Amino acid sequence: MALGSDSRHGMWSSRWLFVLAAAGSAVGLGNIWKFPYITGENGGGAFVIIYLVCVALVGIPIMISEVMMGREGRSSPINTMRKLTDMAKAHRAWTFIGWMGVIAGFMILSYYAVIAGWALSYIWTTAVGTFENATAEVATTTFNEFLSSPLEVVGWQTLFMILTIWIVGHGVSAGLERAIRLFMPLLFLLLIVLLVYAFNSGGFDQGVAFMFDLKFDQVTPETWLIAMGQAFFTLSLGMGTMMAYGAYVPESANIGSTVVIIAVLDTFVAICAGLAIFPIVFANGLEAAQGPGLMFVTIPLAFGQLPLGAIFGTVFFILVSFAAITSAISLTEPALAYLVEEYNAKRKRVAISLGVICWLLGLGTVFSFNIWSDVTFVGGLDFFETVDYISQNIMLPLGGLLIGLFAVWLLPRKVLSEQLGMPDGPVSWLWKLVGGIIAPLGVAAVFAYTIWPMLASLFNL
Ligand code: PHE
Repeated sequence: MALGSDSRHGMWSSRWLFVLAAAGSAVGLGNIWKFPYITGENGGGAFVIIYLVCVALVGIPIMISEVMMGREGRSSPINTMRKLTDMAKAHRAWTFIGWMGVIAGFMILSYYAVIAGWALSYIWTTAVGTFENATAEVATTTFNEFLSSPLEVVGWQTLFMILTIWIVGHGVSAGLERAIRLFMPLLFLLLIVLLVYAFNSGGFDQGVAFMFDLKFDQVTPETWLIAMGQAFFTLSLGMGTMMAYGAYVPESANIGSTVVIIAVLDTFVAICAGLAIFPIVFANGLEAAQGPGLMFVTIPLAFGQLPLGAIFGTVFFILVSFAAITSAISLTEPALAYLVEEYNAKRKRVAISLGVICWLLGLGTVFSFNIWSDVTFVGGLDFFETVDYISQNIMLPLGGLLIGLFAVWLLPRKVLSEQLGMPDGPVSWLWKLVGGIIAPLGVAAVFAYTIWPMLASLFNL
């Protein structure tokens, strides 16, 4: 029985440290870069409502399952799944959840480090005043020239990877916790600073309208899929991160309420990010461009037109880098913990080896924007898009689906009631209904819809 035991990797020093760590994992490029844009383009306030439904009905139950399973197993996702399948007398094939998580973490980190490297480099580019009163052409060329120089991009990717590995190599308390204690309060502070700045920029009303007007005419079945995919990615679900972090949660913490706080924090940051970004964009009469263009062309350009723009633009990229690093460290944890357990190896050594492999894989993403820009892999996607698609659209939903089903239907009832403190009764039935039926069905629907076009194009259907 897990309650009463500690993980060999260390423990969070309190429930609140876990909240910060999990929020650190959840809040990342997904919140600051992706959420604002897809909200604006997919129905504004209507999208926000759909997204909240997805978080409540799918995200929260699956996060509860992941954290609970982690706390019961008290080890890396792979060994946790080994323990739990024995306990549940289930087939060993369920350990697949752990393996897939380790691989997905690798894949996501490989490109995450590259994009975070762009953000790091933009701290510098913005601070030296490149964008002060710059034209759109200057901003576009600056970004394109940067991307087309593999050496420069690799340099920043390497720096980001070294920082990540350095932090995780120090272990749960001296590494992860210390970084989280430092970065998370700063992240919230910087976000508030930017919000105040955006509020006074002159475009606040327009920004609010872009994000919150209820544009139900833009809602299609596809909107639900986008919202659900976003909920998974932004809450770091489906790949064992929350299971690995759950293994270090003190036994006294109430998992249900803790998870709700984490989900609320993540959503709050995503909405604030939109409210910080769009007013600045609209105050300059710019269009809310999509993808890399929004963060690395439109935003620097917008800051450059405003008073003290170089300073606040720099603050913005520091914010993005902090958010990215607390997510990156969580991406390594499933694999790192597993290798330490399996080979009884030193954490530092494992961290360095993992970092090198991930860095190598990341070179594919770097090259996707220059020397390999014409090389396509599965379904006409380039290397970066392929890794992103397979990890985010296939592995995370599949992992989440299996985790939800395992937690609700296979784990012994005793584990559920001990971990969740839920006696049999209406609450436990509600959790079963939502976690064991609604969430898996929802995920299965998304899964089927998102991979269908890919399969169809592969087999010419
Ligand atoms: N949640 C992170 C973000 O929004 C990304 C992430 C996904 C981190 C999966 C860990 C695991 O950017």
